[in-house]
Amino acid sequence: MTFRRTKIVATLGPASNSPEVLEQLIIAGLDVARLNFSHGTPDDHKARAALVRELAAKHGRHVALLGDLQGPKIRIAKFENKRIELKEGDLFRLSSSHSRTAGTQEVVGIDYPALIQDCDVGDELLLDDGRVVMRVELKGADELHCRVVIGGPLSDNKGINRRGGGLTAPALTDKDKADIKVAAEMELDYLAVSFPRDAADMDYARRLLTEAGGTAWLVAKIERAEAVADDEALDGLIRASDAVMVARGDLAVEIGDAELVGIQKKIIAHARRLNKAVITATQMMESMIHSPMPTRAEVSDVANAALDYTDAVMLSAESAAGEYPVEAVQAMARVCLGAEKHPTSKQSSHRLGRTFERCDESIALATMYTANHFPGVKAIISLTESGYSPLIMSRIRSSIPIFAFTPHREAQARVALFRGVYTVPFDPASLPANKVSQAAVDELLKRGVVEPGDWVILTKGDSYHGTGGTNTMKILHVGDPMV
Ligand code: G6P
Repeated sequence: MTFRRTKIVATLGPASNSPEVLEQLIIAGLDVARLNFSHGTPDDHKARAALVRELAAKHGRHVALLGDLQGPKIRIAKFENKRIELKEGDLFRLSSSHSRTAGTQEVVGIDYPALIQDCDVGDELLLDDGRVVMRVELKGADELHCRVVIGGPLSDNKGINRRGGGLTAPALTDKDKADIKVAAEMELDYLAVSFPRDAADMDYARRLLTEAGGTAWLVAKIERAEAVADDEALDGLIRASDAVMVARGDLAVEIGDAELVGIQKKIIAHARRLNKAVITATQMMESMIHSPMPTRAEVSDVANAALDYTDAVMLSAESAAGEYPVEAVQAMARVCLGAEKHPTSKQSSHRLGRTFERCDESIALATMYTANHFPGVKAIISLTESGYSPLIMSRIRSSIPIFAFTPHREAQARVALFRGVYTVPFDPASLPANKVSQAAVDELLKRGVVEPGDWVILTKGDSYHGTGGTNTMKILHVGDPMV
């Protein structure tokens, strides 16, 4: 039996709202549904979330829900006539005092007055993801006088970035704070924080989420140049998060596209090394917004991330607003499976030569070492409370599927993001202790994952509650009597 190890995150939107399309996305392999708080009302998101959970249950699947906060994207205001056309050499002003609805060929309002203080003469500003570039020539009290370096069309509410990053906007806006409460109410499984600058931004988001009663795991979107400026900054942000997203749109604009792939590989490696999950995102199959087939370059992009052991690859507009949302998920699934047939390494050196700090981590890593070196092992069963034990296991490169056996809805959904980890609902506490191993293996026999004669590794703790208690690894021979 072949399991796709790389998971698929797909953004929901107008193209994927109907129950029919959503059901097809789930059948095609959707693992995590992303709800983008930049669009839609809380009621829209609640309706979508309810539908995802209902349809996933109908198909016996466990699909996690990821809320994505809008964050402080800095934008220009609106134009009198919706759009203008700028030419190289034109003079153009960004003004915090100009009307927010009456931009002209010469000037447009901005909704973030601190941009003026943040910028200096000589800075390069990238508008609309870098499609239009201008250089600051003069700084007034409430406006920046710029010279257009790369011209093009500019329309209402396009984003502004500065080359090299460094704009000071705090990561959480009032809207984000309100949406954190919505996320808690919806019992979302993951919540992504946009434009975090450092660990403090993540800590603040975590405090607000906890206060609101939310249990979502927090995802830091890596999209500011300062977040990847050096290893210390990057690792600090990763450590403060439960997972990270390589948010390539804004990141590429700030650091330049030439360095993006190298930085992406680094973020994936660092996240895995620090025991966190990682999503590779943005424009992975962009042409599929209008085409039923990806380009070779897109296939290569998705495969590259899978070969680098990302936990998940993500679709944005392709599934939210494109013409072929289902085909896009199918294409991703196909490409990931294909890439996984050619692993770039069969053995993992993760944590080799390092000391372990925790008993459960020692068991998790011993399990993977054994699974990777003992031919005949077809599956790993991890009895888990929170999903932590399978997360640690899945940081090790392997082709053996890891099954998270848990009675808890949150953990069942959460592990949907982890590479090579699959959910089996299971409550060990409802069984006599000497029946647990057999009952767990029977679940895999029932699913056709193993057959008599195969080996299975099972991990658990002494008691059947409490996260962090794993202290046992059993090697089981399927078909033999088990206790
Ligand atoms: C389940 C098992 C316990 C184990 C725990 C680990 O509750 O029955 O024996 O100790 O999971 O949970 P964790 O959240 O650390 O993966």
